Amino acid sequence: MTQRVVLPRILETGPGTLQRLPDILSTLACRNPLIVTDQVMMSLGYADRLTDILKTAGMTWGLFADTEPEPTESSLLPAVEQLRQGSFDAVVALGGGSAIDSAKAISVLGLHGGRMADYKVPRDVSEPALPVVAIPTTAGTGSEATRFTIITDGETDEKMLCMGLAFMPYAAIVDYELTLSVPARVTADTGIDALTHGIEAYVSRKAGPFSDQQALAAIALIAPNLRRVYHNPEDREAREAMMMGSTLAGIAFSNASVALVHGMSRPIGAHFHVPHGLSNAMLLPAITRFSLPGAPDRYARCARAMGIAGAEDSDDNANDKLLAELRALNRELEVPSMAAFGIDEARFMELRQLMAEQAQASGSPGNNPRVPSQAEMVELYEQVWNQE
Ligand SMILES: [Fe+2]
Repeated sequence: MTQRVVLPRILETGPGTLQRLPDILSTLACRNPLIVTDQVMMSLGYADRLTDILKTAGMTWGLFADTEPEPTESSLLPAVEQLRQGSFDAVVALGGGSAIDSAKAISVLGLHGGRMADYKVPRDVSEPALPVVAIPTTAGTGSEATRFTIITDGETDEKMLCMGLAFMPYAAIVDYELTLSVPARVTADTGIDALTHGIEAYVSRKAGPFSDQQALAAIALIAPNLRRVYHNPEDREAREAMMMGSTLAGIAFSNASVALVHGMSRPIGAHFHVPHGLSNAMLLPAITRFSLPGAPDRYARCARAMGIAGAEDSDDNANDKLLAELRALNRELEVPSMAAFGIDEARFMELRQLMAEQAQASGSPGNNPRVPSQAEMVELYEQVWNQE
């Protein structure tokens, strides 16, 4: 099968690479970026570190520090206005997936105008946007290396998936030292998101030889280190592996796709405000069990890459171990049940049909190795509720 591979031009990896930002901007012929970040980065002092680095290099910048988790379109509009009013030549995103996704959208809206809904799938947004340099501070979304952004329509609560070359950062700084202060809950949620990216990219109907290599390498880095970073945030070796794994998983799914877990997870996030990685975690064991018959050999290779099955295990054995491990991981990382998270059962059941429709409309379930009907997705939502 054929596959078009799209990547950032520069990936600067390793401890302390935050310092290289001025070099990277110069390489891209940029000198006056708009920094897009959030209040957490401000209070941690990371934004100040960034502006100190730019100042020392004699560069100027603007600052927008009000991105929101699970960003809505309206949360971006002040930054879009700031970008239009200024003479910025790049956007530097500092933060987790939400800050990076916001920066991508700000870059496109600032240059080309319109509403975010104009850019959602199935449109392929290939027109060049302002260069984005992404600096992730969590090991999870992989957004620094993907051609996607997800912005919520605040009126309808729809999580709009937007896709295309315009949303691929020109450069990314993958510096694991920025993740050392991430709290345990966020570490777990974003880490499971990254693991899900690796698995879904590998079993996707759009998988190809290039993304397969990235996906397996990502899974092998993430799976043995997820518990370590959850229990010991200062474990630098594990943090480094998670960070690289997360970026590789981003590359994998950006060039293949995600699948049913993400398709069904986005509506839960949108309607019940569950953090993205957490809703993935809630779904991952049940959806993997449903999907296994579609690609038993591929799931077995995931289990082997995770280090929980060996060459001597049959595919069936490896897949039994995979299901057991995904459940064990959720227990150990203290992923709450939907009820424990505070989702109202009656409301969940009322919305399950709509959520199945929204999942289908996103296109992700169509990439799953076993493509579900809408009725099967409704059943899966019920199953995931009842499994707890
Ligand atoms: Fe994700």
